[in-house]
Amino acid sequence: MTQRLTVNEQVHEVELAPSTPLLWALRDTLGLTGTKYGCGVMACGACTVLVDGVATRSCGTPLSGIASDKKITTIEGLTAAPLHPVQSAWAALNVAQCGYCQSGMIMAAVALLKEIPNPTDADIAARITNLCRCGTYQLVRAAIRQAAKAGTHG
Ligand code: FES
Ligand code: FES
Repeated sequence: MTQRLTVNEQVHEVELAPSTPLLWALRDTLGLTGTKYGCGVMACGACTVLVDGVATRSCGTPLSGIASDKKITTIEGLTAAPLHPVQSAWAALNVAQCGYCQSGMIMAAVALLKEIPNPTDADIAARITNLCRCGTYQLVRAAIRQAAKAGTHG
């Protein structure tokens, strides 16, 4: 089946089964490997991308579930230069350790701040449910607070 995907403001036609998870279309077909495979069962958040601004776990989202007018944003499309404010906060606080989970964390944070520009700790706890084997949770929360304080939630 041919499906039209708008990813990072570029339109692509992909020839894949409708049941193909968006994650594999992004990584294997479009070569956007910044989005990571962690658990494959929508539990870890490593595969998080934005679909029309909403944080979406792409491992559990089949292509058939994405209408052709939807806009998908991956970590590669966040911004090239300058860094997105969330990425700047991440860099300033040196959040990443191994980095594997971090693109998903950042995409989840971008979606959170878009919806709630000044999130409470409870908002952060409720929305950022991504898992990090390196245990960067405290720094993730600090970076979200810093990006929120800067008022530059993009
Ligand atoms: S790989 Fe998608 S939630 Fe873990
Ligand atoms: S930084 Fe290593 S898994 Fe999160």
